[in-house]
Amino acid sequence: MSLLGVYCTTSTLAVQAKQLAVFVGCPLIKISPKQLDSGFYVLTVAETGIALQATGKKAQGPIRVDFTCGTSAHRRRFGGGKGQMIAKAIGLKSAYRPHVLDVTAGLGEDGFVLATLGCQMTLVERSSIVYSLLKDGIERAALSVDQDLQQILSCIQLRQQEGVNYLQSLQDAVDIIYLDPMFPERNSKAEVNKSMKACQQIVGEDQDAGVLFIAALEKVIYRIIVKRPRKAPSLDVQFPDLSLPKPSLVFEGKSTRYDVYPLKKMP
Ligand SMILES: C[S@@+](CC[C@H](N)C(=O)[O-])C[C@H]1O[C@@H](n2cnc3c(N)ncnc32)[C@H](O)[C@@H]1O
Repeated sequence: MSLLGVYCTTSTLAVQAKQLAVFVGCPLIKISPKQLDSGFYVLTVAETGIALQATGKKAQGPIRVDFTCGTSAHRRRFGGGKGQMIAKAIGLKSAYRPHVLDVTAGLGEDGFVLATLGCQMTLVERSSIVYSLLKDGIERAALSVDQDLQQILSCIQLRQQEGVNYLQSLQDAVDIIYLDPMFPERNSKAEVNKSMKACQQIVGEDQDAGVLFIAALEKVIYRIIVKRPRKAPSLDVQFPDLSLPKPSLVFEGKSTRYDVYPLKKMP
């Protein structure tokens, strides 16, 4: 499904909407998403932030990044800390908190969880649409008076770039590299939340994940973690021509799996 354009709900935000339209390379549109034929997406700019909105009368609600409430906030307070599978995959056992490069940032859910656990996060996202949603979510959260949230956000750096280019531009290797490439939507019943499904429809599948992994191997110190749907093949199986290593450690949950490629013991 493609993005038709940017729709601004109020004239006071017209400048912001115009800048966003230029940034994502789409026109500004004057018709509200509800009045458009179904089967497309529109980015809306409103007082509540930037959102991705499906078109048509029966479309579901807007998708926006919000770290102040909902799932992210709940998981921050009650999510189980270092007991979470993602924390185990990263290897957060000691007091050492690594710098994690999440080179497939998406809507920042995993990045935010890791920042909550004390990791210094660099998030890289190549899609200008997804990046705009995440940047807006971070900026709105930064307005919160919640000091804990401020502290977490101070651990997050976001940039828009192709991950392979970013990795190749790095002078020094980073502690940990985290990859969560978009996996093809099969008939499988893999649990995909509403936001992820929309992202999937906007960015498509990441068919170059194997190449990204090779670039990551060149710039990592301790380990690479690859998140996959539980039943999806590991990258070496998905890309047999690339001669990739097999994961040495696997953490498997109900719908998700973390394939871990350790290279050196963490402090
Ligand atoms: C499955 S989503 C990631 C979801 C994310 N882990 C989260 O918690 O929200 C994959 C994202 O990675 C981005 N991506 C994939 N390959 C990339 C690359 N080579 N460089 C930068 N971004 C990439 C896609 O555009 C997409 O937004």
